[in-house]
Amino acid sequence: MEPVRIGIVGLGNMGSSHVRDFTASELVELTAVCDTDAEPLANVGADLELARFEKVDEMLASGKIEAIMIATPHYDHTPIAINALGRGIHVLCEKPVGVHVQDVQKMIDAYEAARAKYPGLQFGAMFQQRTHTFWQKIKEMIDSGQLGKLVRATWIITNWFRTQYYYDTGSWRATWKGEGGGVLLNQCPHNLDLYQWFFGVPQTVTGILELGKYHDIEVEDEVTAVFRHENGMVGHFITTTAEAPGTNRLEIAGEHGKLVYENDKLFFDRNEISMFDELANSKQGFSRPNHAIEEVPLPEERGGRHVQVTEAFARAIREGSPLVAAAPEGIGSVALANGILMSHFTGKPVTLPLDAAAYAQMLQGLIKNSTFKKRDVAGGGPSDLKGSFA
Ligand SMILES: NC(=O)c1ccc[n+]([C@@H]2O[C@H](COP(=O)([O-])OP(=O)(O)OC[C@H]3O[C@@H](n4cnc5c(N)ncnc54)[C@H](O)[C@@H]3O)[C@@H](O)[C@H]2O)c1
Repeated sequence: MEPVRIGIVGLGNMGSSHVRDFTASELVELTAVCDTDAEPLANVGADLELARFEKVDEMLASGKIEAIMIATPHYDHTPIAINALGRGIHVLCEKPVGVHVQDVQKMIDAYEAARAKYPGLQFGAMFQQRTHTFWQKIKEMIDSGQLGKLVRATWIITNWFRTQYYYDTGSWRATWKGEGGGVLLNQCPHNLDLYQWFFGVPQTVTGILELGKYHDIEVEDEVTAVFRHENGMVGHFITTTAEAPGTNRLEIAGEHGKLVYENDKLFFDRNEISMFDELANSKQGFSRPNHAIEEVPLPEERGGRHVQVTEAFARAIREGSPLVAAAPEGIGSVALANGILMSHFTGKPVTLPLDAAAYAQMLQGLIKNSTFKKRDVAGGGPSDLKGSFA
């Protein structure tokens, strides 16, 4: 396969990690990079022969690229993606796809319009967690009906620990203006994407959260949310960036048993008969279905998860094969994050799809009324992201 000529916009933590990945892959050829800051623009991948641009417009018009990877702060994902798609340039976008639903909808509309002109145009999202074998197995078990009707999903995802230094060294981070939210917009897009991939988007969202409870930031660093689904299933989503060691445990209760993910292992506590049958038909008050726990065997992890997303993107461009995550699907995780924040600020459950214009207006109000003074700490150049992906 002829490698796809790709450029990267944004050469910070994530962009510089993509530079290393792309140069190691045979399916993409990194030909150009772009950053508004001269320092990373000159120094990231300094040993590589790359066209270097300060303005994304110039990179898009250069003829050097067929595709771009967008790794800028989140608000810029929207204008850059729309600009590229309109020129028939394939887009792979970092998470979250946008800050709020209205922005993501604009991107989807631009993609639909561009596809009419460029039918093979690809628009993917960097949801690399979808490549994990345990998440894929859970998806397969739900979709194949092995769990039966689902009654509850509880995700405790509190191992996104971040220090004050982390927030202080990125000027855009953890502000309404620069990031549009906290843990829900930065760390949790992966988990919220998986949640909606497994269970669909719920009907209502109720959020209880704290703004800057443990960090000197103006956005949320502790969240508890309750989701109610149309089919009756209830979901709980608990997260924070201020718990160590923290937990990553997803428990799914269904008619045929309970599936638990923790520490990269899956256990299925399987009921011998449907618990709904037992509930409705047993002639004893305290009976319950017999059940037995088994560890669910998983295929070996293939590693290099970002690379898998990028290589699927390249194959989709050349061969029309499926993406790991189509960017329009990113609207689900953004809707969940927006819904939780809106529920907190309105003090009420939010029905999805939410009022996207009202949410955008609420966010504008938070930006306008912000009196928060961000600490300005020097440093914070590209750092090792392994601690982030863990
Ligand atoms: N998929 C993942 O696992 C993962 C991990 C970390 C970050 N991310 C995402 O990657 C994106 C970037 O995060 P980061 O931690 O690398 O941020 P960062 O602050 O380290 O880097 C952002 C870079 O973008 C540049 N930039 C800003 N606006 C620009 C513009 N309009 N045009 C060109 N360059 C511009 C900045 O100068 C900076 O060098 C975010 O959306 C984040 O959510 C994804």
